[in-house]
Amino acid sequence: MRSKVTKAIFPVAGMGTRFLPATKSVPKEIMTLVDRPLVQYAIDEARSAGIKEFIFVTSRGKGALEDYFDNAPQLEQALRKKGKTELLEILKSTNMDSGEIAYMRQHKPLGLGHAVWCARRLVGNEPFAVILPDDVIAAEKSCLQQMVEAFEETQSNIVAAMEVPDDKASSYGILDIKEDMGALVSTKGMVEKPAPGTQPSNLAVIGRYILTPTVLQKLNKKTVGAGGEIQLTDAIDDARNDGEEVYGLRFKGTRYDCGSKAGFLQATVAFALARSELRDDLFKFIQDMVAADKAAE
Ligand code: G1P
Repeated sequence: MRSKVTKAIFPVAGMGTRFLPATKSVPKEIMTLVDRPLVQYAIDEARSAGIKEFIFVTSRGKGALEDYFDNAPQLEQALRKKGKTELLEILKSTNMDSGEIAYMRQHKPLGLGHAVWCARRLVGNEPFAVILPDDVIAAEKSCLQQMVEAFEETQSNIVAAMEVPDDKASSYGILDIKEDMGALVSTKGMVEKPAPGTQPSNLAVIGRYILTPTVLQKLNKKTVGAGGEIQLTDAIDDARNDGEEVYGLRFKGTRYDCGSKAGFLQATVAFALARSELRDDLFKFIQDMVAADKAAE
């Protein structure tokens, strides 16, 4: 029987220390690109790929995330009274239906693999997606949708993949390629954060996964990997060792690493320039800045 992917896990338990002091009181996932929180981009992408159940793995201090997905009746009423229908529609589009969203606490920061494992009972015995909201991907057809299509064909584990330069490989999970078929590559291994110079390829895992329940079983072993953490990469590779296929998909789209300040700023500019009401003014502002910079040289 061919299975469908209807559940997605969003690991959002990280402390976001790279964005202190902002993240002292605001969860990183609520920080906005233009006017939408990072997490909204992740939810929209999941919906576009047919996800029906959204599982958040959270931690202490992430209450604002739960509030964000709640209905806001007072706010809605105020907007209705003022006739602000456009804003009302935007607001409503962020509401989640009852039972559509679940929160699970990760009690200890033991790594991405552990965060995913925390959601095992909510996932059960079916394939599931994992979305890391830090990785924001602008694409005509959403990255997860592209992956769901690949999953429908292969019924196997799929990770989003992108070429990275040599000196960046040690920041990622890196694929050891068995066969390169163009967009899709089959793997014969996967290494989490390889030591500089030891990476088996330049093809890095980006924060989108479609995984079989075998990966959850492998996470039960709680094997400690790179950085002293329980790594999702290791559990996926363990499933492959057991005979499952693991494919990397070179997705079509632009990925922004919103876990870093530089990536977050780039995403902000790119998403603002994509908005017709902001584009012209912002573009001119950037041109003026560049011209002033050149003149000062
Ligand atoms: C995580 C994964 C890594 C992947 C990366 C993509 O690492 O462990 O395999 O390449 O996300 O963004 P992190 O960035 O959380 O250290």
